[in-house]
Amino acid sequence: MFNSFAAPPVDAILALSQAFRADQRPGKTDLGIGVYKDSAGATPVMRAVKAAEKRVWQSEGSKAYLGLGGDETFAQAIDDLVLGAAVDRARVRSIQTVGGGAAVRLICDMLVEGGAKTIWVPSPTWLNHIPIARSAGLVVREYAYLDHVTSAIAFERMLQDLAQAEAGDVVLIHGCCHNPSGVDLEATQWTELASLLSKRGLLPFIDIAYQGFGDGLDQDAAGLRHIAAQLPEVAIATSCSKNFGVYRDRVGTAILLGQDAAGADRAKAVLLAKGRVNYSFPPNHGAATVATILNDPTLAADWREELESMRKRMVGTRAVFATALRQATNSDRFDFVSRQKGMFSLIGLEPAALQKLQSEHAIFMPPDGRMNVAALRETDVERVAAAIAAVA
Ligand code: LMR
Repeated sequence: MFNSFAAPPVDAILALSQAFRADQRPGKTDLGIGVYKDSAGATPVMRAVKAAEKRVWQSEGSKAYLGLGGDETFAQAIDDLVLGAAVDRARVRSIQTVGGGAAVRLICDMLVEGGAKTIWVPSPTWLNHIPIARSAGLVVREYAYLDHVTSAIAFERMLQDLAQAEAGDVVLIHGCCHNPSGVDLEATQWTELASLLSKRGLLPFIDIAYQGFGDGLDQDAAGLRHIAAQLPEVAIATSCSKNFGVYRDRVGTAILLGQDAAGADRAKAVLLAKGRVNYSFPPNHGAATVATILNDPTLAADWREELESMRKRMVGTRAVFATALRQATNSDRFDFVSRQKGMFSLIGLEPAALQKLQSEHAIFMPPDGRMNVAALRETDVERVAAAIAAVA
């Protein structure tokens, strides 16, 4: 049997990481996978994470199983971070998941069990959203999101597309720092979207994987909180990979807002059952570390401060890089980079130009031209801008 398997579809982000590792050229630059890097090009463990890990190690008296939903203090701390005071907690249930990816999968599984047939995803979206939704059994339809000409939101077309959705359809929305475009909805657009969802009986599913990377922790959750306050049922996938930098520890949550406590309980039970048949229990270490930070005012303050300095670095890099591109290309073609949010921008280069960037300049970006701005070192800004100008 094993010899008869066809190769699965290539994941462009992971394939790029592999090509980068295999490349021997000194000075090669990886602007692919979504990992934050500091000005030295490193992805260090955050200070509060290091301190909390020590406490977890010192205080952990047992490694016996926790429940299927993992560490409840962790899940509740993430509820606070994401939802703030937007909703009555009586209708909120949440579980720890194996990173944000597993939260997306379990929620899709739950939605299918609840009778959902179709999920609308933004075009473009994270390259794993569509495969996950399809493998859970959902039909995927895309709604316009990015205007590729202006590199801004295609809001009118988005509303037109979603006006075709039928009651009970699910609408996947990026909470902030849209991946791959860095283009987010404005406050008034969130309000309009919420009323469309509510009028048409659509179920919002918000994936928030970059809270704190855009305008700040509360600002980045404002749209999500508005939807949560307005709609009867909402599903949310969260990730601590980026804002706590615990990528490999796989830390995330699935949050469900029910019409009432009974509905939320029923939906949570389905999520837990889906987790059970997938991986049983989520791993403890990363979640315990994050819970330790969020439940300790000193560690939490230090984490917020470090996260804020990471955010500011990304904002600063965007500004410097946009200026360098303006000079290198003698045009305003790439000015949008400074207006976008979070780690990513779609740089808008053709596949052949991206190929040249890689082969001639050792600069690696996936074939959709998504650039991880957060991986750009100050010392590389001029070189990368010049290379883009040369291939564009
Ligand atoms: C990314 O989009 O680069 C990250 O979220 C990593 C991944 O799993 O694709």
